[in-house]
Formats: sequence, C-alpha cells, structure tokens
Amino acid sequence: MQIHETAFAVSTYRSYHEDVSKDIYAKLWNNPATDALIPHILKSVSEHEAILHSLRNRFFYESMTSFFEKNNGGTLVNFGSGFSMYQFSFSKNVSTVEIDKKDIIDYKKEKIENWTREGKLPSRDIQYIAIDFNHSSVENIVDFLRPMIKTEPIFILIEGVFFFLDRKTTDKLFKVFSALQKPGDLVGCVTYLPEVENTEVYQRLLHYFDSNNDTNDSFNHQTIPHSYFQNIDQYALLEKTDEFELSKIYAPNCTIKDKTEILNETMYVLQKM
Ligand SMILES: C[S@@+](CC[C@H](N)C(=O)[O-])C[C@H]1O[C@@H](n2cnc3c(N)ncnc32)[C@H](O)[C@@H]1O
Repeated sequence: MQIHETAFAVSTYRSYHEDVSKDIYAKLWNNPATDALIPHILKSVSEHEAILHSLRNRFFYESMTSFFEKNNGGTLVNFGSGFSMYQFSFSKNVSTVEIDKKDIIDYKKEKIENWTREGKLPSRDIQYIAIDFNHSSVENIVDFLRPMIKTEPIFILIEGVFFFLDRKTTDKLFKVFSALQKPGDLVGCVTYLPEVENTEVYQRLLHYFDSNNDTNDSFNHQTIPHSYFQNIDQYALLEKTDEFELSKIYAPNCTIKDKTEILNETMYVLQKM
C-alpha cells in the first residue's frame, strides 16, 4: 500500500459517515481503486476504521470551527493534508495552506480547481505547496510557508501523519510550527500512544502494511507517548481525547465495546505560549 492510497482510504471512510464526519465533500474523491481496497482492510484489520476516521474528522471540524468563529477568520495550515476538505465547510474569511508530497498536491490542486469551476465546491482562498517533511530543513519549510500565510491567527493541523514519520522529523516539524505561530495559536495533531502497540488490532495493521507493501514505498510506524505532548517547547497542552471517547459523544449507537478492540488514535490540541 502506498502512502497516497492511505489518503484516499481516509477520505472514503469520511464519506461513509457524513453525519458524523461533517465532511459533505469527501465523496468527491471516491474512486473504484479505493472502493476495491477498503473491504480487505476492514476485514483484515478492523471493521471500525470508517467510523473512527469520521470521529477524528469531527473532532477537528468542531475545534477549528470554534477557533475561526471566535477569531472571525484566520489561516488553516494543514501539514500532510491528503484529501481533507475542511476549508469548504468554513466561512470565506478562513484561508488555507495545504502541504503534502508533490503527487498528492498536484493531483489535489487540479481536481479542486476543476470542481470549483464546475460549481461543485464553493470558492475558497487555498494555497498548495509540495514539501517532503523528511527531506527539508526547518529553515526551508519556514521560508516557503511564511509568505503564504496572510491572515492570522493560525491553526496548524497535522492529522494522520505522525505514524508515517520518525521522531527526528516530528521534532523538526514542531520547530517549524513554533517559528510560524504566535501566542494563542493552536496545533491539532494525532498519534497512536505506545500502549496501542500491545493490541492485536495494531499488530494486524502493521501486518497489513508489511504484506501489502508492493512498491517499497517505505515509511515508519511511529507511536508517541503522552509525555511528549506535555513537554513541547513553547506549547501548552489544551485538550486531549481519543476516538473511543469521541464515539460515546458522536456515535453512541456504534458497537465498540472496549478501546483495546479498535485502532484508537489520540487527538491533542496544543496552544503556543
Ligand atoms: C493517512 S494520510 C492523512 C491525510 C489527511 N491529513 C487526512 O487526515 O485526511 C497521510 C498523509 O500524510 C502525507 N505524508 C506522509 N509522509 C509525508 C512526508 N514525509 N512529507 C509530506 N507529507 C507526508 C501523505 O502523503 C498523506 O497525504
């Protein structure tokens, strides 16, 4: 499985549960290749993946909506944005900077511009930039991004990405965030905690990636402990939750009985001090 296929899968999951994810545009990305892939993932890893990704989207949808409403606009800087579509649900006074690998960015930019012209999407101020986080320095990333951010405050989102990075690159990105943001700005991020490694479902996920890595598209599988987020230079931990807790609020009828039976990701909101 290549990394861009994970971005298509996540987007398709959100389209299955629009009432939970609040992403009414995710379905634009649905395609036969991803539709063919998903039943095998749900069967061999976990049947709950679609609702969990929809819950994750809902959490950040709510956090960002309230941040931008309170501040009457601002900029969403989305690191590893994949096919996420938050910007079309926010008001016009929110600008967005999307950062991902070149193949994703080129494809997304073209599609979004076409769909906007055809009236399938509302018009929004979006800038696209191709950066590989593993191969760029803090200074390079900051120099590229700073001129693109025209409205403050800034909400930085990095969702579904840390798993694919190593710790060195993760540390580097927090230095980038700190250089771009001012006090009061927020970072929303997602990780697996190390205790998830002990669950059978996580081992099935790793096995799935190992046995379906047909192209040698190499990536890490990082987990990060809670203490990491308590000790980031210049950031205070504002909020922490996980998908199991979110399921009780936004999907009370789903059949998850215990957090160890699901690929339970933890969400953090951090505030620049
Ligand atoms: C599972 S997808 C999540 C996409 C999106 N954030 C979402 O939640 O829908 C992971 C994304 O991270 C991006 N990514 C992974 N490693 C990266 C790297 N080294 N540099 C830039 N982007 C990367 C992938 O291209 C992909 O779009």
